[in-house]
Amino acid sequence: MRRDLKVLKEQKIRELYDKRERLMKGGGEEKIKKQHSKGKLTARERIKLLLDENSFVEVNPFMSHRCVDFGMDKVDAPGDGVVTGYGTIHGRLVFVFAQDFTVMGGSLGEIHAARICKIMDMAKEMGAPIIGLYDSGGARIQEGVLALNGFGEIFARNALCSGVVPQISVIMGPCAGGAVYSPALTDFVFMVDNTSQMFLTGPEVIKSITGEEVTMEELGGSITHAVKSGVAHFTASSEEECMEQVRRLLSFIPSNNLEDAPMGLAKNGEIFDENAVKDLIPDHPNKPYDMKKVINHLVDQGDFMEIHARFAKNIIVGFGRLNGRTVGIVANQPMHKAGCLDIDASDKASRFIRFCDAFNIPLLTLVDVPGFLPGVSQEYGGIIRHGAKLLYAYTEATVPKITLVVRKAYGGGYIAMCSKSLGADLVYAWPTAEIAVMGPEGAANIIFRKEIAAARDPEMVRQKKIAEYREQFANPYVAAKAGIVNDVLSFEETRMRLINSLEMLENKRVSKPQRKHGNMPL
Ligand code: HXC
Repeated sequence: MRRDLKVLKEQKIRELYDKRERLMKGGGEEKIKKQHSKGKLTARERIKLLLDENSFVEVNPFMSHRCVDFGMDKVDAPGDGVVTGYGTIHGRLVFVFAQDFTVMGGSLGEIHAARICKIMDMAKEMGAPIIGLYDSGGARIQEGVLALNGFGEIFARNALCSGVVPQISVIMGPCAGGAVYSPALTDFVFMVDNTSQMFLTGPEVIKSITGEEVTMEELGGSITHAVKSGVAHFTASSEEECMEQVRRLLSFIPSNNLEDAPMGLAKNGEIFDENAVKDLIPDHPNKPYDMKKVINHLVDQGDFMEIHARFAKNIIVGFGRLNGRTVGIVANQPMHKAGCLDIDASDKASRFIRFCDAFNIPLLTLVDVPGFLPGVSQEYGGIIRHGAKLLYAYTEATVPKITLVVRKAYGGGYIAMCSKSLGADLVYAWPTAEIAVMGPEGAANIIFRKEIAAARDPEMVRQKKIAEYREQFANPYVAAKAGIVNDVLSFEETRMRLINSLEMLENKRVSKPQRKHGNMPL
């Protein structure tokens, strides 16, 4: 009897290991081979790459579907097509779910969704980031409305977790139909070149409805979303590179809205190369230069992680550190559209500012802006509505806000780029700054129009008036005198002053009037 019980116990233990082994194989050898042949890794291989070694713990591994329709009662779907759990990245807790395309094409049914929701709830309660790895055929057709309901449950959690814990989506295969709205609700979307696609309606549907012909990659590949739609914040040429990018991003941001970002290696006393920066700013005010180089000179070790690098290139956003502290940097890029603000740039910067504000990341704004981009398409596209987002986002942000006017700060662009009036705590300017209602050429043409027209040599008078205006207004001292620029800094003292300012502002607290929420122009 005792011997029988011992055998039974051994059998039970073996059964556990057999079941676990079955889970590890997902959809089986053949499906895994097919997945690899498409240049894609499996869900478990991806998690292994993403997390610190041996840190992954699966949650609810034995859950699976209970559908009996359309022959589903005979379908064994390990994990119900998704692997969920937690682990660490750089030693910090994260929650992760990875859709397993080898099991029913990673399609999302009731239980698949429940597993994801469970992980999201845990992440919110534990105050840790959620990382979703997407590779799925969308709503599991056999499960009908239960699958749709599952999507709804996830979307609602995405919205409720927003601003509480960082949410990161990594698209590593198809992500189609309504499924795209979960990544769209998250803070950062990563895509892998050639193997990931996102679209609401696929090429076939588009062809039948509008007659347009387009390939899957053209319609919803990484380049489309990184360059045109702005849906993707990052792209990578391989899954390995993509996971490294996610890990790097996490090193800059806090785990939740109640924490500060982790400190990087402090670089006290790092020498700011004055001449290198001085030489970067051209002598001629209309000559372009690369603002990214200015950023690289200012941040610790030149380590700047740009976000949305290929979208709305006229504005740069991303994370760097100043003496170990993470800052969110927003900067005009004179190399593209002369650094003008347009619809896409306004959207891009506003969303980034709101992320930083939600997660206690101070903002550093570098200004070289001739204004908002003029044009019929901009007006018809709603630049008024979109540009207003930038004003709103900066004003609403209560994190420390430091602004450095590098060169031009004209008109509405000056106000929108975190001016004193929008609540900048400290506004600095370089000696090269020109802070005015508009550029000297435009201003002289308007205010001296009659004088120029009446002159015997109009061009000579025009040039004289431009020079006069430049002399009088195209400098930082009018604003400094009025107190809307706090100080004019030499290049060499800038980095240390920024570090000092951040330290001074560290405990900034702002109280706002009670309200449910504002009504941001969307
Ligand atoms: C059930 C699915 C599925 C789905 C794929 N599979 N999508 N099962 N529901 N939605 C299954 C396939 O039947 C197949 O099973 C296996 O997954 C692998 O799929 P393949 O077609 O062999 O792979 P591939 O050739 O790589 O094509 C991938 C694909 C294609 C482009 C994603 O599978 C596809 O078009 N799927 C349907 C997409 C779709 O219409 N989804 C519903 C969208 S509506 P076997 O057993 O043969 O291996 C939606 C609404 C959401 O999502 C609304 C939320 C608000």
